[in-house]
Amino acid sequence: MEVIVVKNYQELSEKAFEMLKALIIEKPDATIGFATGSTPVGLYQLMVKDHLINQTSYQKMTAFNLDEYIGLPQNHPESYYTFMRTNLFNTLDVNFDQVYIPAGDARDIVAEGQAYEVLLDKYPIDFQILGIGTNAHIGFNEPNTPLDSLTGVVDLTEDTIKANARFFENDPSQVPTQAISMGIASILKAKKIVLLASGASKAEAIYNTIHGPVTAEVPSSALQNHPNVTLIIDEAAASKL
Ligand code: GLP
Repeated sequence: MEVIVVKNYQELSEKAFEMLKALIIEKPDATIGFATGSTPVGLYQLMVKDHLINQTSYQKMTAFNLDEYIGLPQNHPESYYTFMRTNLFNTLDVNFDQVYIPAGDARDIVAEGQAYEVLLDKYPIDFQILGIGTNAHIGFNEPNTPLDSLTGVVDLTEDTIKANARFFENDPSQVPTQAISMGIASILKAKKIVLLASGASKAEAIYNTIHGPVTAEVPSSALQNHPNVTLIIDEAAASKL
């Protein structure tokens, strides 16, 4: 596991952007795995700015997203579909036929998960961007998710519901209680994984990711089993190392 410690959030976003841009220039038809949450927003802003100034093209890219809330329609303001459109895809020159986000309102959600996994096998991810929950979740794989899990339905923990209530008028009762998420094994299929973490609230999760035992209690610890993982973390997130 490569660990890059940077000063602050701005430097974290720049470092991640540098890596992602190098890949898309070298391999315009790369498959990129995107994440939601606040952490990758700085990276997405740099992608948008660079696209507008330098016309870096994403037309040939295939894109996957990690997860989606179950029960929210696509056009809900807090769906991850809306998040990705607003923060990134609407401004880039993406081909929307090659953009995959699990449908949280699918009628048969189990079949949706299975079909997503088939797509992931068809277009293997070259570069997976990850955030991390304060409880070390990756995607929406909460503690005690089996490390060999594939894309499917997951229950959100109370911690995560509370943490995400800030996007739902600070009202935990509005936060969906389930999500459809790429599983831990699905994430580990990516050729390269870049995990971003910023702030002291992530310091313990980062310590356990790197130094803890590989255990389902710490979903991100599974990354220790992957041959090509880079952590880009700021000083606050690195403060327990
Ligand atoms: C969310 C997402 C994760 C994300 C995490 C951290 O619940 N499902 O993919 O990494 O929480 O979010 P943030 O970056 O806002 O701290």
